[in-house]
Amino acid sequence: MTADIFARVQHILTIIKEEKIENAVELESFRIKYVGSKNEIKGLFGEIKHIENDRKKEFGQLLNDVKQAAEEKYEAFKSRLLELDEVQSGTFLDLTAPCAPIPAGSRHPVSIVLNRIIQIFERIGFVVAEEREIEDDWYNFTAMNTPEDHPARDMQDTFYLKGSTKELLRTHTSSVQARLMTTQKPPIRIIAPGRVYRNETISSRSHCQFHQVEGLYIDKNVSFADMKQTLLYFAREMYGAETEIRLRPSFFPFTEPSAEMDVYWGLKNEDDYRITKGTGWLEILGCGMVDPNVLINCGIDPEEYSGFAFGMGIERQAMLQFKITDIRQLFENDTRFLKQFVGIV
Ligand code: PHE
Repeated sequence: MTADIFARVQHILTIIKEEKIENAVELESFRIKYVGSKNEIKGLFGEIKHIENDRKKEFGQLLNDVKQAAEEKYEAFKSRLLELDEVQSGTFLDLTAPCAPIPAGSRHPVSIVLNRIIQIFERIGFVVAEEREIEDDWYNFTAMNTPEDHPARDMQDTFYLKGSTKELLRTHTSSVQARLMTTQKPPIRIIAPGRVYRNETISSRSHCQFHQVEGLYIDKNVSFADMKQTLLYFAREMYGAETEIRLRPSFFPFTEPSAEMDVYWGLKNEDDYRITKGTGWLEILGCGMVDPNVLINCGIDPEEYSGFAFGMGIERQAMLQFKITDIRQLFENDTRFLKQFVGIV
């Protein structure tokens, strides 16, 4: 009798293990038979009382094995069928699958060149200073020694805010010089990148908005030679170790003496003749010793301190670097244009 029932339960265990489940209907009948509330195994637990005492424990163990085997098989097939179902309906989510590559963006050519310039000056101790684009005419013009009747102040050249003769869109980053000199004590050693605005007709060569980087160094005993070496270092880092520069006398209201710096670009091909107007030299920036009037306007004693300043445009350098022939492309955000700069830092 005991041996019989042991054999029966063993047989059920084998059947459970070998049972084929291929669809939801088969899974459901398996569930009813072996897992559900009225399953076959439950009834067998009632048989324990007929088992000889010394084998009761063994029988109980066997029944538990059967119960566990049935539950495990049911769970395994249930999730397998669910997966199959999701695959067929297209809703299956395989969390182990490698993900779709995240499309890489690209830096804007203006940012690429701007970042290079910033890094070069940061290496010799200049810190970045950023200021407002909507300026007061005092910081943009008056403090910078630009007289009231200077043509740059004209509505034709400068964007004033509606109804205002004081608030304007800054025409150069030189306004940052005045902002800093009125709020900080020397030594001051900054570069100020940013956007500037001028009321110019938009063409392939000029735009009403563009970017500049301003440099300012104020301390005791700062000389023209310091400026020249700083700018030579910049030119060689930016355009190659052999780069030659020249300083041409020039005029800016806020520097005295003033100069424009050219780098030697060369005349290797026809493009070089066009870009440099046949001279081989390219104008890169304006610079000079900070005019004592500017120092006085900003509350710095010109007897104690001196300094140099420079300002350069970014767009033209970006156009040279990447052979861009129309400045407007830099402001149109056409992704076909921007995608060409993927991977350039
Ligand atoms: N602000 C000048 C410009 O926009 C450039 C400049 C800056 C010149 C600092 C000298 C010193 O052209």
